[in-house]
Amino acid sequence: MAAWDGGRAHFARLTVNPEYRRQGIGRELVNRSEKLLKQRGAKRVSADILRDSPGAIDFWKSVGFTVNDVVEPYAKNI
Ligand SMILES: CC(C)(COP(=O)(O)OP(=O)(O)OC[C@H]1O[C@@H](n2cnc3c(N)ncnc32)[C@H](O)[C@@H]1OP(=O)(O)O)[C@@H](O)C(=O)NCCC(=O)NCCS
Repeated sequence: MAAWDGGRAHFARLTVNPEYRRQGIGRELVNRSEKLLKQRGAKRVSADILRDSPGAIDFWKSVGFTVNDVVEPYAKNI
């Protein structure tokens, strides 16, 4: 999911079928989504990254994401 609310851009729930992983599909999805978000005016995009999913952090780092050291991620179940 690549979301744009007019002010903020956000990625969540990126998943590639296990049979097709490590073929560049995740990277391509991120690249295409970033292009679309830029066309709409986004200058920065955040991402929800699953801490316990094998390879997830390495994947997001490989496509240029770094830990956000400005914002602490708080959440609440409602
Ligand atoms: C994370 C995920 C979306 C990556 O998709 P993918 O199509 O396999 O990723 P790509 O092939 O585009 O990988 C791009 C780069 O990311 C890194 N990477 C991807 N998977 C990795 C893994 N399991 N371990 C280490 N690095 C990994 C590598 O640097 C890779 O480049 P390389 O293959 O040339 O070494 C996929 O593994 C997935 O669906 N995982 C389960 C769900 C999940 O954790 N989603 C992310 C939640 S935030």
